[in-house]
Amino acid sequence: MTLGLSGRVGIATDHGGFGLKEELVAQLHAAGHEVVDFGAHGLNPGDDYPDFVIPLAQAVVDGKVERGIAICGSGVGAAVCANKIPGIRAGLVHDHFSARQGVEDDHMNVICMGGRTVGPAVAWDLVETFLAAEFSGAARHLRRLGKVASLEAKPAHNWGKIGTTLHKP
Ligand code: RB5
Repeated sequence: MTLGLSGRVGIATDHGGFGLKEELVAQLHAAGHEVVDFGAHGLNPGDDYPDFVIPLAQAVVDGKVERGIAICGSGVGAAVCANKIPGIRAGLVHDHFSARQGVEDDHMNVICMGGRTVGPAVAWDLVETFLAAEFSGAARHLRRLGKVASLEAKPAHNWGKIGTTLHKP
């Protein structure tokens, strides 16, 4: 494993990914990783992914865990939620290429997956690939990430001027 700093991996899920999370925790332990499990700690069909994903994302930003694995039924809610935390670069990943390149180019620090969309073998390959990858530090990627990070310094009501034209008042 090539993780630096704490070397700890954080993981979180709601009910939609509970079974997958349990499998990944066991595999992470078997592979020698230190794991911080942010829950859910039991299968509760009424639970809400932000209650688990937000603490995980905050732990990544605070350096308490090196990288995060966020799961829900589709992975979409987990990704939307994690990316609301400044400093988080979360990606919803279904393929090996993106699990590696998301780190190398985009400095992804949280991988999001769907417990209802990927099986355990694919999910483990994605996690292993994500954890083994390193950010390239290439100037073009730093430039792009700087533009992304600049959004975090702007109030949300200014975002329309930066990119989206989804709707006009
Ligand atoms: C919960 O049923 C489900 O909506 C949630 O796990 C996730 O898929 C949301 O994106």
